[in-house]
Amino acid sequence: MESLKQKICSEGVVLSDQVLKVDAFLNHQIDPLLMQQIGHEFAQRFKGQGITKIVTIEASGIAPAVMAGLELCVPVIFARKYQSLTLKDDLYIAKVYSFTKQTESTLAISAKHLDASDHVLLVDDFLANGHAAKALIELIGQAGASIAGIGVVIEKSFQNGRAELDEQGYRVESLARIRSLADGRVSFLE
Ligand code: G4P
Ligand code: NA
Ligand code: NA
Repeated sequence: MESLKQKICSEGVVLSDQVLKVDAFLNHQIDPLLMQQIGHEFAQRFKGQGITKIVTIEASGIAPAVMAGLELCVPVIFARKYQSLTLKDDLYIAKVYSFTKQTESTLAISAKHLDASDHVLLVDDFLANGHAAKALIELIGQAGASIAGIGVVIEKSFQNGRAELDEQGYRVESLARIRSLADGRVSFLE
């Protein structure tokens, strides 16, 4: 997606070989027009698949997920993040470890909003090692719902999340694929 790549080049900051800061348009300040284009692009790629719900994670997944939900005319659920959580029957829960933040948290979705009749599109802002995606897949599995695919705004292709999801047979659509962040520069795949 060209406008996204341009935005990454003009406003993204390469913090290290591993981390791209995009606080100017995605993770802190949000560019609504770009989010609308991102939602449109996800909808184009996943339309006609019988998607009934979009599932993402708070906080940064919500903006692109809502725009995709608007285009696909389906509700958007964001998994809530808790530092600790007591087990309850009416929740689907999964643990997720963040390498970026070096913390473990628990993701939860209320069983009220998702069940076995749902066909889900997962959306997230970043795909790095795939831990967030793995936890979301676990939650969808607990609901007995099926997965249409995974829509990612920015994929860091040099980390192993994408390869693992491909291996597991999931359809992954990433709107920007970053080959490398070496030497303070963003280089894209393709
Ligand atoms: P993984 O889920 O793919 O394994 O990634 P990881 O544990 O490394 O990611 C933890 C958090 O950091 C996630 O956000 C993820 O979106 C974000 N992240 C990963 N790599 C980058 C990067 O290069 N740049 C930026 N800006 N974010 C990155 P989160 O903890 O869920 O935070 P939130 O922003 O949604 O609140
Ligand atoms: Na994030
Ligand atoms: Na995220």
